[in-house]
Amino acid sequence: SNSKDTVLIALIAAGVAVFATEVLRRFNTSDKLKGKKKLAPIPESMFGRKLLEEEFAVKPNYIYGNCGSFGHVPQRVILAQLELIKERESDPEGWYRFGREYSLYFDAIRELADFVKSDPTNLVLVENASTGTNTALRSIEFADGDKILVNSHTYGAVLKNVKAVRSEFPGVEEVNFDLQVPLNSKADVIKQFETAINENKGIKVAIIDHITSPSALLLPVKELIEVCHKNGIIAIIDGAHAPGHIPLNLEELNADYYTGNIHKWLFAPRGCALLWVHPKHHDVTRPILVSHNHMLDTLEKRFVPSATRDSTAYLAVPSAIAFHKALGGLDVLLERNRQLANAAAEMLAEAWGVERYPVPESLRSPNMALIALPPIFQDNFPPEERECTKLMKRLHDKGSFISFNPVSGKIWARISVHAWNSMEDFFEIRDKVLEMANEVPSDCPDGLPLNAQTARTITSPLVAK
Ligand SMILES: Cc1ncc(COP(=O)(O)O)c(C=O)c1O
Repeated sequence: SNSKDTVLIALIAAGVAVFATEVLRRFNTSDKLKGKKKLAPIPESMFGRKLLEEEFAVKPNYIYGNCGSFGHVPQRVILAQLELIKERESDPEGWYRFGREYSLYFDAIRELADFVKSDPTNLVLVENASTGTNTALRSIEFADGDKILVNSHTYGAVLKNVKAVRSEFPGVEEVNFDLQVPLNSKADVIKQFETAINENKGIKVAIIDHITSPSALLLPVKELIEVCHKNGIIAIIDGAHAPGHIPLNLEELNADYYTGNIHKWLFAPRGCALLWVHPKHHDVTRPILVSHNHMLDTLEKRFVPSATRDSTAYLAVPSAIAFHKALGGLDVLLERNRQLANAAAEMLAEAWGVERYPVPESLRSPNMALIALPPIFQDNFPPEERECTKLMKRLHDKGSFISFNPVSGKIWARISVHAWNSMEDFFEIRDKVLEMANEVPSDCPDGLPLNAQTARTITSPLVAK
């Protein structure tokens, strides 16, 4: 009977353990579901793949090295958004008609304003940085002879935006100046910018990236805004890559318009960006979509979502900020990711036998880095977007991703580093790209035209490294 008792006790203990595990699991899930504004700190020792696998809905064994393009949404934020959707579906009238969406929207604005150091009345939420620049450009009254200043690093979609303005106002000109690299200092950028302004009288608006996309430059926007204002130019700052990546003080920056994605580096669900508008432009700035709130008397009221839509990406912003804070906020992330981006870029440059983008540290986006692709790619693939996309697809098929872009006549790899990355990721990226280099002569992606001469003579010198 002793052994019977032992079996019974063991069974009870096992039952209790299963029950406790289930309770804990459920508790944990419902805790996550609440999208709390304060989360327990996640220490740096958890960063890297463990963080990725525990906190993000990702494919196993895939290397995510391109936060800069679309960002990644933590599961806690997805669940917070799901909770919001469920609440809305339980009471659509209360949500849309009787102010629930409205009050959650202003909660989000207050949290975000605090994060980017903005007066909440100057800050609105829009779907993406594209909507931000669209909204800014639409608010400006153009006349014949006005010029819009962009440069060789301006984001492609924004250039299309300028084209659209020009088709509406045929008298408007685009001035696209070549911001030449190598650059030695911030002063170099400012000088080239001033020269472009002096050589092109009549510039009404300048669109300036805070962090450029294909070239990952950190531009001295504070100084450039001052140059604009000295010359009576409206400064639209495209900060698509800035929120959650670098510290922002939007009031101090004093742009005319500043837009930035929350869904790239700051963990918001996709379709979420900020637009900061200087008070002197409030009266003329209206949402692109004309609906109930379009004619209201203040900027902040006009931009409250009014046509029936899913605005939960905006309303989940406090959960996204809470997650960023749980990781230590910018104090931890900026420096940790900067160091890793730098070390990874050095390692890749050495392994591939190539250069890093020739700009000083002060002009480098802290958490992204540019490294030239090995010569075999340069010799066989024209530096064009189409070719880069094919190469990116090849890397994607190998279970890894960083972005490849044509910049100044060459193909460059751009790495992005966030808390889920570690050096191991970039060792894998190094090897996958070398594998691709080895495949170029015999197995060209999608039948790209090869430089036959190079194809015959290459004997994969890179792989030996
Ligand atoms: C510099 C820059 N501007 C604008 C955008 C557009 O962002 P979205 O597609 O979210 O509108 C991007 C996106 O990568 C970007 O890098």
